[in-house]
Amino acid sequence: MPTDTDTDTGFDVAFARRCFPALSPEWALFDNAGGSVTAQPVVDRVTEYMSTLQVQLGASYALSQRASALVADGHAAAATWLGAEVDEVVLGPSTTVNLRRLARALAANWRPGDEVVVTDLDHEANVGAWLALERHGIAVKRWTFDRATGRLDPAALAPLLGPRTRLVAFTHCSNVIGAIEDVPAIVELAHAAGALVCVDGVAYAPHRFVDVKRLDVDFYAYSTYKVFGPHLAALYGKREHLQAAGNENHFFVGAEEVPRKLEPGGVSHELAAALPGTWDYMEKLADHHGLGHLPSSRRRLEAVFDRICRHEEDLVGPLLEFLRGREGVRILGPEPADASVRVPIVGFVVDGHRSSTVTPKLDAHGVAVRFGDFYAPRAVARLGLTANDGIVRVSMAHYNSADEVDRLIGALDQTMP
Ligand SMILES: Cc1ncc(COP(=O)(O)O)c(C=O)c1O
Repeated sequence: MPTDTDTDTGFDVAFARRCFPALSPEWALFDNAGGSVTAQPVVDRVTEYMSTLQVQLGASYALSQRASALVADGHAAAATWLGAEVDEVVLGPSTTVNLRRLARALAANWRPGDEVVVTDLDHEANVGAWLALERHGIAVKRWTFDRATGRLDPAALAPLLGPRTRLVAFTHCSNVIGAIEDVPAIVELAHAAGALVCVDGVAYAPHRFVDVKRLDVDFYAYSTYKVFGPHLAALYGKREHLQAAGNENHFFVGAEEVPRKLEPGGVSHELAAALPGTWDYMEKLADHHGLGHLPSSRRRLEAVFDRICRHEEDLVGPLLEFLRGREGVRILGPEPADASVRVPIVGFVVDGHRSSTVTPKLDAHGVAVRFGDFYAPRAVARLGLTANDGIVRVSMAHYNSADEVDRLIGALDQTMP
């Protein structure tokens, strides 16, 4: 049972921190939406694989068989994380690459004049991949977000849907302002129009349990290097859609060979083999928090994320309160800490000051925060903040402590104009 919880949420952050070798008292890391630090079991598995098994896959000799099994375990780990079957998940070097491959593979079955809807809120990974289809005659429609709320309004999507809409691409959660979107409502609307959905879960997955079947999404992307794991990304697709998609691999790879046909060149062996390390870490958290008795790994994962969610809500509350009370500061996106509407990604600007002048002053305090558009330049432009050098983004992870948030607030208090 927890021994040194530092919040009343029942989450033992001190225990969690000890599982991350890159964490130190020197730096309070608040750039986690860019990439998380890596859990020790993941590091151990990379080391183990590379120091004992750096052989080629798929041969008859025992070492090769063992290496193949470990890489397959990586695929299974990602699939189980999302609540999918193993033949419904593709691994790749990044979500950007996975979505590019997906867009091309789907377009192989589309005709000129078919339509896709993208948003101006998304990270460019889930925009550019679809815009690139314009050169093949696919028409791309733009769904603009509500500037006042920072959210996607399903009512604004409805008029964009028509008989030729093939897919709606949107984000589960903004990586710049942290607002959670109403995925079920959007999925229902898109499906009613006969369109598929491709959801970018990259900013959401580090903070919440994901169940792609419950969400009834057609495609769902997340980057494992932001979820305490190796620098890879996973893409879920419903079996029938992946089977029907075009081949992105060599000509001799069969149409039914999923995920292989969408993994040209294969996946990094040592990183795939290390992916189950994120499960090792979550199981450690489950055991430590008295959740080990739950009957399946998914149930334990869900229960751990429940704790994480409450802990993160507790972390982000004081920061939002501080920013709300500060004259000249504008929070972009939801102002309450309420975990049902936001994750702990906080975007803000200081009126009259470029964001590029705000964050470097935090460096001397050992507080790692950054400014910019975070590859969501369309969102930043729509907020009118391009010339402001974008926004200041504080992005928390569950391994941040209340003490670190105090340090951040103290540093902002001293350095903000
Ligand atoms: C919301 C979101 N989507 C997609 C990406 C792209 O992920 P990757 O770096 O794996 O290509 C990012 C990366 O920051 C992101 O935040």
